[in-house]
Amino acid sequence: MDAIIVYWSKTGNTEKVALAIQEGLKDAGADVSLKRVEDAGDVDFYAHDLVCIGFPSYRWSPPQPMDEFLNSKFRAYRDQGRVKVGAPKVPGKNALIFCTYSGPHTGIRETIPAGLYAGQFFEHLGFTVLDEWYLVGEFHGSEEDSTKGRLGDIRGRPNQEDLRKVKQDASQLAREADTVFVATSKRFYEEAMQIVRHLKHCGVTVHHPCFHLDSNAVDTDPELKSQVTQQHFLEINESEMVYALLPRGYIGCSVTIELTYAYAKGKRIVVSEAPSEFAVWPMVSEICSPEQFLARFERK
Ligand SMILES: Cc1cc2nc3c(=O)[nH]c(=O)nc-3n(C[C@H](O)[C@H](O)[C@H](O)COP(=O)(O)O)c2cc1C
Repeated sequence: MDAIIVYWSKTGNTEKVALAIQEGLKDAGADVSLKRVEDAGDVDFYAHDLVCIGFPSYRWSPPQPMDEFLNSKFRAYRDQGRVKVGAPKVPGKNALIFCTYSGPHTGIRETIPAGLYAGQFFEHLGFTVLDEWYLVGEFHGSEEDSTKGRLGDIRGRPNQEDLRKVKQDASQLAREADTVFVATSKRFYEEAMQIVRHLKHCGVTVHHPCFHLDSNAVDTDPELKSQVTQQHFLEINESEMVYALLPRGYIGCSVTIELTYAYAKGKRIVVSEAPSEFAVWPMVSEICSPEQFLARFERK
């Protein structure tokens, strides 16, 4: 995965977080570049699989240099026709927003609007905003704001423990962004196996149905069936998206449960055809044939 981190930092807190994210992403095998916003004028967001944007909260907004950067990029992409009505998702393009804040007056509510605001630029460009992270940072130069605010004594934050967690979360994010869970019913195992093989060949981490198990035995053994289901839930947790192979729209009970679980966990759900069960439709992000789906990984 190719990632870029663009950040602005006045007193160093956001920079520490940016560096921890860089380490975490690298640990997970990503190619990462890091730029201060002042040097990021020529960055093309679409040239990266993951764009991480970081800044401190100033009055529940991004500070002016970051705001100007996001707006100028947005204007340029809009002029190129890349801002489309309905904001269709561009496959494989993800963003992460990270804000540091001191929260002296109203705590985390002083930064959430800034994170959501920045995320909107990316959603409008078709990116999936994987998350917004809010990290506590000492208010350098104001002892009162660093000790008597809503969050108490925040001197020294982000501290080693905060940064360790950031690094760990970044690794996790990178792994998830490259992981697909393939779901299907046993009657389509042959086709699903081919998809899995192809994805693996493209370097994607894939979780998939237990092809090696006797599916009749699984269906008739309650213990085994629930073990398999639980295993799939854990694998869905580790995946960025679920691809459900549904020839002629067929969707069985197990796949319905898996998609419902994935949806509740905020995962993207891509299906090969519209499911015959209409109740599943609101959970689907995209319909994409196996050929189209595989083609996007080949380009990577
Ligand atoms: C001019 C200025 C305005 C700030 N406004 C807010 C604010 O409205 N809410 C908040 O939680 N923190 C506010 N802060 C604190 C910073 O967001 C926080 O200390 C941040 O971690 C600093 O990041 P940096 O070290 O990367 O510059 C402000 C800091 C400055 C210097």
